[in-house]
Amino acid sequence: MSAIISQCSLNVLQQAAENLKSGGLVAFPTETVYGLGANAEDENAIQRMYKVKNRPVDHPVIVHIADLDAVDYWATDIPDYAIALMRDYWPGPMTLLLKRTEKAKDFVTGNQEIVGLRIPAHTLAINLLQEFSKIGGKGVAAPSANRYGAVSPTTAQAVDLELQEYLEPRDQILDGGQSLVGVESTIIDCTRENPAILRPGAITAEMVEQSTGIIVIEPEGTKVKVSGSHKQHYSPNAKVIIGAETKPGNGLIAMADLATPEGVIRLAAPKTLEEYARILYSALREADAQKLAEINVVMPEGNGLAVAIRDRITRAAAL
Ligand code: TXA
Ligand code: MG
Repeated sequence: MSAIISQCSLNVLQQAAENLKSGGLVAFPTETVYGLGANAEDENAIQRMYKVKNRPVDHPVIVHIADLDAVDYWATDIPDYAIALMRDYWPGPMTLLLKRTEKAKDFVTGNQEIVGLRIPAHTLAINLLQEFSKIGGKGVAAPSANRYGAVSPTTAQAVDLELQEYLEPRDQILDGGQSLVGVESTIIDCTRENPAILRPGAITAEMVEQSTGIIVIEPEGTKVKVSGSHKQHYSPNAKVIIGAETKPGNGLIAMADLATPEGVIRLAAPKTLEEYARILYSALREADAQKLAEINVVMPEGNGLAVAIRDRITRAAAL
């Protein structure tokens, strides 16, 4: 049990920062999805966070930081192109994998020599991270606030539904409204000569090349483990079928220009790619709330954000 806090005044955020510092878990909004936060230097808190998520323990977790000053605490040997990316896209939906310092312990890196860092672009998240930093905190480890393999939450209510029964009374869920991006951050491996995108997101390959002036390479050959890259992930209870061949009683997620056949339950009809990304996860959750057995999902075409949307739909549909 723990309560959703919807009026997040500075005072509430100060308390939440104290709570993190003393081992509590705080779920908080970011522009991508909600995260389940724990002090990145507190092994016990991180272990409890893994239990709440039911996540295998050797999986690395992203360290969220308040500002660029905190980068050097966690990472070293940072290539110039990574600095260009930080300057252009932080705060924002981008996680950089960098060589770790000795401060990034095995329990956040999944026993790897690299650490994942992100400055999120959400006022509430930034303020929480700043308050945490003021009391000596260095970073907040936060995976998406869902049970392992399930759909990431984009609202505080979805976090509550996913995790409520596993949280302790001292843990908190901060409500910052609906996440505006809706799919998880782009993960970029910055440990090699060229950047490689391990998980597509709102910061696209085109944007990375524009910022860095160097070519993005395929992730093949990377030694990095990324849990969200497991084939099956982001799955609702309903069976996800890719394509428009629906039947009555099925749910349907597709761009607005596709009409809803008779008897089919329309779960989302986005008009743009941005809207598609923003509502995809809540539409998948809605299918479960309505106890639908099957959902047809028609993938968007094109580059940019469409790549991330297709990635998540493909994984949601994987058996
Ligand atoms: O948008 C996001 O990235 C959200 C919000 C809360 O920031 N977080 C998120 O965390 O999606 P999670 O744990 O659900 O997915 C993060 C992915 C995982 O697949 C993890 O394996 C990878 O990032 N990752 C994190 N740190 C890493 C590291 N040191 N090395 C390799 N992969 C890492
Ligand atoms: Mg996740």
